[in-house]
Amino acid sequence: MTTIRTAAVIGSGVMGSGIAAHLANVGIPVLLLDIVPAQLLPQEEAAGLTLPKVRNRFAVNAIEKLKQTNPAPLYSDAFAERITPGNLEDDFERLSGVDWIIEVIVEKLEVKQQLFRRMESVWKPGTIVSSNTSGISINAMVENLSAAFKKHFLGTHFFNPPRYMKLLEVVPGEGTDPDIVDFMTNFCEKTLGKGVVRAKDTPNFIGNRIGTYGLLVTLREMLANGYSVEEVDAVTGPAMGRPKSATFRTLDLVGLDTFVHVANNVFDLVAEAEERAVFQTPEILRRMVEKGWIGEKQGQGFYKKVKTEAGKEIQALNLLTMEYVASRKISSVSLEATKQAKGTTAKLRALLSAKDRYSDLAWNILKSVLIYSAEKLGEIADSIVEIDNALKWGFNWDLGPFETWDAIGLRRSVERMEAEGNVVPNWVKEWIASGNESFYQNREGNTFYYLKNEYRGVETRPELISLTALKQQNKVIRSNSGASLIDIGDGIACLEFHSPNNAIGADILTMIGQSVDEVRSNFRGLVVANEGKNFCVGANVMLLLMEAQDGEWDEVDGIIRLFQNAMMKLKGLEKPVVAAPHKMTLGGGVEACMPADQIIYASETYFGLVEVGVGLIPAGGGCKELILRASQHINDPDVDLQPFVQAIFETVAMAKVSTSGHDTKRIGYMRAQDTVVVNSDYRIYEAKQAVLRLEGAGYKPQSQEKIRVVGENGKAVMQIAAYTMRQGGYISEHDQLIANKLAHVLAGGNVPAGTYVTEQYILDLEREAFLSLCGEPKTQQRMQYMLSKGKALRN
Ligand code: NAI
Repeated sequence: MTTIRTAAVIGSGVMGSGIAAHLANVGIPVLLLDIVPAQLLPQEEAAGLTLPKVRNRFAVNAIEKLKQTNPAPLYSDAFAERITPGNLEDDFERLSGVDWIIEVIVEKLEVKQQLFRRMESVWKPGTIVSSNTSGISINAMVENLSAAFKKHFLGTHFFNPPRYMKLLEVVPGEGTDPDIVDFMTNFCEKTLGKGVVRAKDTPNFIGNRIGTYGLLVTLREMLANGYSVEEVDAVTGPAMGRPKSATFRTLDLVGLDTFVHVANNVFDLVAEAEERAVFQTPEILRRMVEKGWIGEKQGQGFYKKVKTEAGKEIQALNLLTMEYVASRKISSVSLEATKQAKGTTAKLRALLSAKDRYSDLAWNILKSVLIYSAEKLGEIADSIVEIDNALKWGFNWDLGPFETWDAIGLRRSVERMEAEGNVVPNWVKEWIASGNESFYQNREGNTFYYLKNEYRGVETRPELISLTALKQQNKVIRSNSGASLIDIGDGIACLEFHSPNNAIGADILTMIGQSVDEVRSNFRGLVVANEGKNFCVGANVMLLLMEAQDGEWDEVDGIIRLFQNAMMKLKGLEKPVVAAPHKMTLGGGVEACMPADQIIYASETYFGLVEVGVGLIPAGGGCKELILRASQHINDPDVDLQPFVQAIFETVAMAKVSTSGHDTKRIGYMRAQDTVVVNSDYRIYEAKQAVLRLEGAGYKPQSQEKIRVVGENGKAVMQIAAYTMRQGGYISEHDQLIANKLAHVLAGGNVPAGTYVTEQYILDLEREAFLSLCGEPKTQQRMQYMLSKGKALRN
């Protein structure tokens, strides 16, 4: 039985260090090796170092850099300790003691071949070896090595950055043991949390083959029809269900040199003339690389940031004059229509039906990519699902090529392609001729996809609970505009938020109350989770601001009471409740998790009470829950609570947000019973299992407890801290006002230190402070700013 307890990563560059970090993230100790430096750096010489002292320099520096990289490759800086630096001479033999060796060195076949040849001499059967190559042949890398080594060898192609990009292409070689391929597929998905696609050993595998083709076709269309950089980006970004970085900001980020290298790889390795013509690097790219205009790394590419007297200016390259000019904002009726349209299908249809020059551009790019994807099916991957997932997970497209084809109307678009003289692969035409209207089909929540001339059901697994599918299977127990209660099987219900941005308003709060009643009578327990882009960005600030501006204080008071009561009701439920937040979980979203008996964080959870950013303090029980925990944690009345409350004060007053699920521990949210699930797709299942476990262990409901507070003295300490911050110019006067009110609530008001108070008493303090802050003009300005700009105003 294969297991991976330890690993070695060879190559500590961009990808190697990122992969090592991600292994460390999931608790695997990693040996990180790189070459031995040939020369001392000036700073090493100045520090009196000698070459023998810097033999691990590359890996050591790479580990150090991980802690400074943004976005953070590590879930927590402390995890860097799990990475041991070394070098390929002194530590090579240590490779025989690990379970998995990943090669992440320069993209050169001979260099990789040489490394594997040498590795075979220390390699022990059982150790899995993989390459992170972006496009070199897996078979070629190990062609002269033993069958035993080949059996254990495969491609594991991570995307950059490894922690954040979901895609991982698993590429078996001819000799790879199928059991090892299955094991790695499972391991990468479950333990590393990746979305795995099975690729074939063809140039650039799946994602980069189609993705690069798409970018090159875009350039071709642009040059042929005179579109500007800004125009292309306006069309090929969110308007088409693609990331904001669209075409040229993506290329600038990737680096034009890397992109040319990747494109050349296909050009060199494929035989077909038409395909080679697309992969031949356009002259313009070659010129840009020659000039060093390769993107972010060099400060300029298709775009350039320039400092002007007025501040910063973004300039775009004019490809005709090769000069940078101030970037223009592009608008058109068709682009505007895509902004109004809800969902990617509607956006694509709006864009394509407009019949203007932007619609033409979108169509010409799309049809080439769709036809090319259809041509490559079978050659680069066995199923359309693999191709679609590769583009969604590796390039952040909302829809893969075949899903896109369905979205724009398969039959209609094929007719148009043929009418325009394009050659559509026969299998697509035959599929349509047999009466099929799409590549995918949804039948009562079950998805089917095209596979070898028939519909095949998408594999379902118990770990992958889909609320969307359950809703289509009529599993909704109750529903309103903001939330639904869904039966997720085995007597467990799931409370799902689905309001815009999952902001909490009266509808969600009402549904929380109703869910508690429903679960109390008819279910074994409750999961609080959803499939939104973010778990919840907080309470509905718009509603609050409107009431506050109208001076409707009774209304504001009513909203807070509704919130507090819903949370108390959730907490009082006599059955287990487990919350499973993911991505942004802010303000009210945090408060909606806090009443749960257990929280299962997705590893990518950005969790924090950020109310001060809109000039408020948490009033849905957030303050109360935090001090209750401190009081429970330190239940010896002789032990000083102050340091714990002080830490809470800092967390809330500074609106600290975790950088991962694990990081919630550092800022004081994670409790002993809370855990993290790496693969976010499993979170609802894991939460459901947790509910069942809690029930099985003889669940006892949470009882209302008295809270020991730090009182007036403690409040003074916190307020002095705020005063000092103000004096030092670190916070504004309004920040200080908010901090003072927060200190008042966290201290338990004007009572002597060590007093025991009720939960309701603290809730009343929260509400009072919240209401008074709502009346402050600067708080209203903060709310307004957040609503219009999406970020906090520090006034
Ligand atoms: P990099 O240039 O940042 O790092 C390469 C590392 O290899 C350096 O630390 C270097 O010291 C080491 N190295 C150089 N020569 C060596 C040798 N003879 N023996 C052992 N180590 C040697 O490169 P990067 O971007 O990290 O790429 C590494 C691999 O990952 C390549 O195969 C690349 O195609 C692949 N890849 C890169 C992606 C990217 O976005 N940069 C994405 C996915 C795969």
